[in-house]
Amino acid sequence: MKILAIESSCDETAAAVVENGRTVLSSCVASQIEMHTIYGGVVPEIASRKHVEAVTALAEQALAQAGLSQREIDAIAVTYAPGLIGALLVGVNFAKGVALALDLPLIPVHHVRGHIAANYITHPDLEPPFVCLCVSGGTSAIVDVQTYTRMKILGSTRDDAAGECFDKVARVLGIGYPGGGPMDRLSEGGDFSKYTLPQAHVQGAELDLSFSGLKTAALNLIHHAQQTGEALDLPSFAASFGQAVSDSLVPRTMQAAKLLGYGKIAVAGGVAANRRIRQDLQAACARSGDVLYLPELGLCGDNAAMIGAQGYYEFLDGKRAGWDLNAYATRDISAG
Ligand code: KG4
Repeated sequence: MKILAIESSCDETAAAVVENGRTVLSSCVASQIEMHTIYGGVVPEIASRKHVEAVTALAEQALAQAGLSQREIDAIAVTYAPGLIGALLVGVNFAKGVALALDLPLIPVHHVRGHIAANYITHPDLEPPFVCLCVSGGTSAIVDVQTYTRMKILGSTRDDAAGECFDKVARVLGIGYPGGGPMDRLSEGGDFSKYTLPQAHVQGAELDLSFSGLKTAALNLIHHAQQTGEALDLPSFAASFGQAVSDSLVPRTMQAAKLLGYGKIAVAGGVAANRRIRQDLQAACARSGDVLYLPELGLCGDNAAMIGAQGYYEFLDGKRAGWDLNAYATRDISAG
């Protein structure tokens, strides 16, 4: 079964063709980062307009790269939540139009479920159940992936997402947007224990996360250095910050894995590209005996291949959208 998938939840317009949930026949991404960099973050209105400009050509490009005509597509999958409303609506309405014109089923896909499904593309042997650490610009959660379409949040952030913190700290340092990648590269050769940054614990909810205190502490440290003229050791600062994020995420993920006993852990989302988090998870899994599944770097960030992968399993589960499909800024992953 060949699915044409559309993704437009934030600042990347993407289209892909995926066969049977696992084989990527094409994957095209048009990034808007250059445009939003001018403003130091995503401007929703601009994001929507850029999606409008890009989406049709990208879908045509995805079909051409897959060597398929419109008639050879079996279904359309589209991200409908969570994300920026205006941005999501562009993809949703485009997908509706294509599905209506070609008389194809329309499959609504939850964006974070898509991030999880990126692992099915990278690891053909991976099947649920497993525990997944989902970390991106908008989400930080530990998810119990019981089946391809039944999921439960075990713990999630009470405030900021991990990626959001990387972005805010990087913006104040003036090292680029989005900031996770630049912070990761800056940490090269730094001392991971040079700066002491706080760890949050949510009482009574051991698997929940919180990053706002860490973000504020990191920003205060930068401002203090700026005001006193103290030279920050930037690689060590970036390394210590990355370590603090990892120390928040990895032990809780391992705790969740131990609780459920599946023996399998996956990671998903843009922050899954972070080298420190990857290394710490690898070391923790080597100790615990859990098998670790990391998505290939090219599939960590937003793309439509992951939407096509998840769309296949949603389709098998009978999920279809009507012509009244809407977009939602927030949506629980367990609601699908
Ligand atoms: O999954 P994604 O592309 O978009 C969302 O669905 O949110 O994630 C983007 C986030 C950004 O916050 C970006 O700074 C972060 O992923 N990111 C990283 C790294 N690469 C991207 N964070 C830490 N380390 C990285 N290497």
